[in-house]
Amino acid sequence: MTTTAIVSALHEELAAVLGLMPDEQPQRVGGREFWRGHLHGQPVVAVLSGIGKVAAATTATALIERFGVQRIVFTGVAGGLGDGVKVGDVVVARSFLQHDMDASPIFPRHEVPGYGRASFEADAALSARLAMASEQVLQTLPAQLGAEVVQAFGLQAPRCHQGLLLSGDRFVSTSAESTALRAELPQALAVEMEGAAFAQVCHDYGVPLAVVRTISDRADDAAHVDFPRFLREVASRYSGAIIETLLASR
Ligand code: ADE
Repeated sequence: MTTTAIVSALHEELAAVLGLMPDEQPQRVGGREFWRGHLHGQPVVAVLSGIGKVAAATTATALIERFGVQRIVFTGVAGGLGDGVKVGDVVVARSFLQHDMDASPIFPRHEVPGYGRASFEADAALSARLAMASEQVLQTLPAQLGAEVVQAFGLQAPRCHQGLLLSGDRFVSTSAESTALRAELPQALAVEMEGAAFAQVCHDYGVPLAVVRTISDRADDAAHVDFPRFLREVASRYSGAIIETLLASR
């Protein structure tokens, strides 16, 4: 049976997934706990990658080399960049780009040296299933979170978007920076700190990858406001429900 890795950067994002694994056993590798177990009867390894591209790349490599996972699903939060990508929406990546990669003038801006390309693809089939699971969750979950939470974060009529996800070793928390990113990379839907690193490692090893991100902020001057509360009360619930729906669907 296919072993699926479920990865998040932060504890709050993975807590709901671990809660769905009845038999999880921890194993420490490279300073991280990897939790082997089952979810809906399917073999799963759950792990916190930590934050940033290096932590993400180490985690992806360990998952593939040490745990032999055959596919990787990353779930977490991101800052919205694209028009209409608002807090409480979900983005499923179709492709990934490191917005802080710059070996110019030796290589074109954003190109990853040695690869002849700037962007890497998500696995189309796995991402389509993840998007379907996300759509399904968006239809029911906001109502379950309660009117006060929906009101507090403006979670009315959330949507699922699919497209380009940016990653970089920076929490984007000024309007000046998000405006510059939008101008430079107009197709970008959202920005986070790990996805493109996972994508590069998964490309190296030929392992399918899908990434889903709940939008926690608009990567602007208000990006830090209530981030912990959003993680706790919204993002962890989205992560758990989306992963459960994905694995239940086979
Ligand atoms: N993750 C969630 N919000 C983010 C932001 N604004 N920048 C980078 N990573 C994020």
